[in-house]
Amino acid sequence: MTVSIENTIKSRRTIHQFKHTEIPPLELLERAIDSCIWAPNHHLTQPWRFHLIGPQTAELICLLNAELVQSKKGEKAAEIKLRRWREIPGWLLMSRERVDDNLRDQEDYAACCCAAQNLSLLLWEQSIGMKWTTGEITRNGRFFDIVGLNFATESVVGLFWYGYPADIPQATRIAASKHIKSLP
Ligand SMILES: Cc1cc2nc3c(=O)[nH]c(=O)nc-3n(C[C@H](O)[C@H](O)[C@H](O)COP(=O)(O)O)c2cc1C
Repeated sequence: MTVSIENTIKSRRTIHQFKHTEIPPLELLERAIDSCIWAPNHHLTQPWRFHLIGPQTAELICLLNAELVQSKKGEKAAEIKLRRWREIPGWLLMSRERVDDNLRDQEDYAACCCAAQNLSLLLWEQSIGMKWTTGEITRNGRFFDIVGLNFATESVVGLFWYGYPADIPQATRIAASKHIKSLP
């Protein structure tokens, strides 16, 4: 591992607060997508599908989310969420087709996760932060309709927010040594 990869991996953080006014150029996102797909994937199934979400689709997602929040937590909470979600600068979705073979399905998800982490690191190297979300909305049938996915045959790997970080949170990890078992 080179020092630069190590630094990128360790310094990358999930970004929750973005600068609202600056939207990363689409070319940077597209270049990162081009590279992230060099992730390992068993049988070369290349299961990742990317959906570049434009402002009209993002607005529909924001409204659906507000509706879901309202039904659970009320009007005020929904308003706050709507305001927050509308400020997200960039939206990207990764989906995949589900397959009946359990092992292949699991391996396809694993491959997508490798690509998602690649994407996150590639963006981070361009000073772009990302948040990978798998909130309730990503399993909602109406969300699938909005983004044009088939609920019966496809699934969402992640809804990714991206943009320039307004804040970079601290994070910790339990030392890897605690999770390493040496075998003879
Ligand atoms: C599969 C997956 C799903 C995630 N979903 C969410 C989510 O729904 N909401 C959220 O705030 N963070 C989500 N995260 C981000 C994690 O919370 C985050 O990676 C963790 O807190 C560690 O922080 P770090 O990424 O800055 O190291 C998700 C991460 C992964 C890998």
